[in-house]
Amino acid sequence: MSTLGEPLPRDLLDSGERLAPEQLRELQLGRLRATLRHAYDNVESYRKKFDEAGVGPDDCRSLDDLARFPFTTKADLRETYPYGMFAVPMSQVRRVHASSGTTGRPTVVGYTENDLSMWADVVARSIRAAGGRPGHKVHISYGYGLFTGGLGAHYGAERAGCTVIPASGGMTARQVRLIQDFRPEIIMVTPSYMLTLLDEFEKQGVDPRTTSLRVGVFGAEPWTEEMRREIEERAALHAVDIYGLSEVIGPGVAQECVETKDGLHIWEDHFYPEVVDPLTGTVLPQGEEGEIVFTSLTKEALPIIRYRTRDLTRLLPGTARPAFRRMRKVTGRCDDMIILRGVNIFPSQIEEIVLRTPAVAPHFQIQLTRRGRMDHMTVRVEARPGASPAQREAAASTITQAVKDGIGVTVETAIVAPETLERSVGKLKRVKDLRNSES
Ligand code: DLL
Repeated sequence: MSTLGEPLPRDLLDSGERLAPEQLRELQLGRLRATLRHAYDNVESYRKKFDEAGVGPDDCRSLDDLARFPFTTKADLRETYPYGMFAVPMSQVRRVHASSGTTGRPTVVGYTENDLSMWADVVARSIRAAGGRPGHKVHISYGYGLFTGGLGAHYGAERAGCTVIPASGGMTARQVRLIQDFRPEIIMVTPSYMLTLLDEFEKQGVDPRTTSLRVGVFGAEPWTEEMRREIEERAALHAVDIYGLSEVIGPGVAQECVETKDGLHIWEDHFYPEVVDPLTGTVLPQGEEGEIVFTSLTKEALPIIRYRTRDLTRLLPGTARPAFRRMRKVTGRCDDMIILRGVNIFPSQIEEIVLRTPAVAPHFQIQLTRRGRMDHMTVRVEARPGASPAQREAAASTITQAVKDGIGVTVETAIVAPETLERSVGKLKRVKDLRNSES
């Protein structure tokens, strides 16, 4: 793939990517005002919330005025389950997706024909930014179904002029065979399932570095720079990050460019970002870390105003796509933060440490238990096959010490045998919280 790592030629940039910054701001303001009007006129819960806050669509005269409007949360969608926040008649809704809803009702999202087309456009743009070109084959291992990953990637890859291999998640041994036989250049999958696939290649005696894959477009869960290095080295491909969430559209809200790998450009002609203090909701200046909040600018079926993602990141100026701001790789979700004896810990901090430690595999799980009144954290990590008992012991104390030095908390590290921890086939659950199942 000779084009890889090269900037996308200007003639392959779409009209949105070519906008000058002032043109983009003007476009955003027009679209924002229309979205606020559409939401207010057609969705009862928006109308109620705007009225309560004493703001109306016409009060938005500049992009900064958006901060005067109320936030939307997952709870708003749950309360109006399933279709209460749709802004068009059901006859215009061509598809629905839903989040898994591990706690309570799932959240349901809907798309008109125009929404589906815009979604395909932003995913196609993401694939081009990742290095994909017409004629490339794209193996999609994101799950197909109510989850937005599979179908979102699928139509985007088709729109980009690629050939789609719709593998979906699971049946890992078969995926490995398909990749060898069908010779895709690109794979789209969660980073944790990519690790499962890499292990399977090795189990089948195939060096994953020898496959046709040249780019991996990984997302749907947080992953670190250490994970990027691990995957790139083991698979000899470029690993780039794709971000999105169902409430905003699905995958394709933001994408990392392969030539810079420096965070994700937000496709700001369709999704307007703000970063706010997660506790107070105050908008933070560019560069400060907080919760990213999105407002859709072109969506019809489910306009979303100031949606609280719970994802923590910071906004940075554009690089490879100068008109669009970047978001730094998501470090974690507010909800995933573990508070252990007063210290805040994100699973990604543990991932960084585990992946830097020799003699252990990149498979780990965080277990929380309660001993007496004290919360206790055990990092369970798989040994690499062939690691000696002495190497395992050394790895355990390295990890415990690194957590103590880097995060400031005492944890236990248990090195377990290879292939004993649960493997991901989609989004991986890193934390096993047993604190309320004991005591
Ligand atoms: O995960 C959409 C998606 C599919 C994105 C495939 C990328 C690739 P949801 O199931 O609604 O949608 O989950 C959204 O997943 O709020 C983040 O917490 C997390 N997430 C998604 N992409 C990333 C990423 C899809 N690149 C939630 N890095 C979001 C970190 C991510 N977290």
